[in-house]
Amino acid sequence: MAISKDEQKILAARSAIDALICDGKIFSGMKIGLGTGSTALPAVKRLAERIADGTLSDIKAVVTSFQTDNCCRELGIPVFTLNDSAIGGSLDLSIDGADEIDGENNLIKGGGAALLLEKIVAYNSASYAIVADESKSVATLGTKFPLPVEIIGAARVPVEKALVRLGARCVLREGVRKCGPVITDNGNWILDCLWDSPVDPRKMEEEICRIAGVVENGFFTKLRPTVFIAHSDGSVERR
Ligand code: 5RP
Repeated sequence: MAISKDEQKILAARSAIDALICDGKIFSGMKIGLGTGSTALPAVKRLAERIADGTLSDIKAVVTSFQTDNCCRELGIPVFTLNDSAIGGSLDLSIDGADEIDGENNLIKGGGAALLLEKIVAYNSASYAIVADESKSVATLGTKFPLPVEIIGAARVPVEKALVRLGARCVLREGVRKCGPVITDNGNWILDCLWDSPVDPRKMEEEICRIAGVVENGFFTKLRPTVFIAHSDGSVERR
């Protein structure tokens, strides 16, 4: 019997934590970055279970959002920032979800508007793992899931014009049960950008960040994450 998308998320998350413990990528005393969203949170929960059953100890977490901070505090996982001396600006591993993953493991992230901290944490980690259900695996990036671009609100119009020059159509992300823009955990706005044909994510990650007023964008291309994708038949692909 096929398993649902929600079941795939939990399966991918739990399998990744257990496999990474077996591989020695998660170990007692480690500094770990924890992502955001409905696939990252089951990974946080599995981590807490492995702390509770005595497999792991002295785990120090750096979180990527208000959501993950709450989850860690509820589960008793100690939370630090990258700036704390116990962390010293770098992490052993980060684990997160993704909105899209191409064949080279380039990513689009930021569906939950947490891309800025997610990228800071990922790019300061010795290794990086992504957990996802099978719907996240795609051939190319840029045409289906809109790329989130975090911007300074005061620069919306010039940033949007610059993104249009790069071929994008942009929509300001608006709140639900709140009039006006979504405000990120860092006080910024999000433009969601789509292209009519696939783009080169490596080139675009660089070019978008050169626009004055852009804080960060959701292309993650500078890492080669280990990706765990759960399928509807109950298998987990590791690539
Ligand atoms: C949040 C993210 C999430 O990791 C991404 O949106 C995937 O979320 P989910 O696992 O809920 O589908 O980048 O900013």
